[in-house]
Amino acid sequence: MKFCVLTLFPDMIRQAAGTSILGRAASNGYIEVNTINIRDFSANKHNRVDDYPYGGGAGMVIEAEPVFRAVEAAKRKTGENAKVIYMTPQAKVLDQTKVEELAMEDGLILLCGHYEGIDDRVLQEVVDDYISIGDYVLTGGELGALVLMDAVSRFVPGVLSNDESSQFESLQDNLLEYPHYTRPEIWHDKKVDSVLLSGDHKKINAWRYEQSVIRTKERRPDLLKNSYNVKVVSFGSESCLETAQKYCGIISRYGTVMDYNRNKLIKQKKIFAKKDLVVFVCDSAEKLKEENLSEITFKMSGNNTPAFLIDISSEDGENTGRNEKIMGLFKEKGIELIRIYEINDPADEKILGETALDVRSVMNERAKRCRYE
Ligand code: ADE
Repeated sequence: MKFCVLTLFPDMIRQAAGTSILGRAASNGYIEVNTINIRDFSANKHNRVDDYPYGGGAGMVIEAEPVFRAVEAAKRKTGENAKVIYMTPQAKVLDQTKVEELAMEDGLILLCGHYEGIDDRVLQEVVDDYISIGDYVLTGGELGALVLMDAVSRFVPGVLSNDESSQFESLQDNLLEYPHYTRPEIWHDKKVDSVLLSGDHKKINAWRYEQSVIRTKERRPDLLKNSYNVKVVSFGSESCLETAQKYCGIISRYGTVMDYNRNKLIKQKKIFAKKDLVVFVCDSAEKLKEENLSEITFKMSGNNTPAFLIDISSEDGENTGRNEKIMGLFKEKGIELIRIYEINDPADEKILGETALDVRSVMNERAKRCRYE
């Protein structure tokens, strides 16, 4: 990942990005952090890039031309297709979904304003996206750019070691992280819960899930509204189950995998709740045929349960009619199949990751819509 920060204070970026995990990632070549001083593109002999605002008022405005030329230089360094992001409090606040989306880019150009801001005409021409890091006003965009680079870099392969890995983020499930403890077992008369010393991983996971929910209720009850119990249902071959397991790990920390390859499960009644999020994974075109699918969904029912289908049956061609039929079949069962992803190579983790990201962003959008309705 290549970052290029356009700023009047490049030292601020270089110092902070050269330290700790970002510094290590840059030394190891996993990320590149370049800075461009907007002042270097001043047409003025005193290197001034700001001027008084038309219409009067306090503060100065950064001129359009130096910013325009700095962006051109940044594109030459970072790639012509690199997205230009203007760091500003007048924008949507950065969240984990956005961070993961940005991590899929090859290069990002981060434009930092100062004073009263930048001449709006150049922003209209060069900026692809506007991002804020919180609903407060900073003295400039540099701290925002650093926050963004830090959060995005955690998702760049190689940046975090296995120990530091971000694979399981509880924010993924819209839950806060459970509490962590290390030695000694008793500190200031406070004893670590015995479950954590039991070595029973099933029990430990259940305990952690419960703690996450308790903590979220206490500290961020707003997140719980967007929280779902992820269920990944596999039907198809044995390798389908493996994909389902892998996918479940990508999309959720606490998700469960259900194996519908086993006839026993098909025969059991399965009721999905409103707060379930079901992802069906199927690698068999045969099973996706209407007559066979109704057998599979026969015992299933939901309560407007949101669902997605990952189709890895690798049947090329026009599936629109078929997909509509599949969606209709699920709808009759109270399961709202929102999207069907047709994937050729289930071993490609990047594609699976992109699918998971899309699922989460669709769910976040739905949650937002519900709040306004
Ligand atoms: N520049 C000034 N305030 C900011 C904020 N909250 N987020 C991003 N950039 C900013």
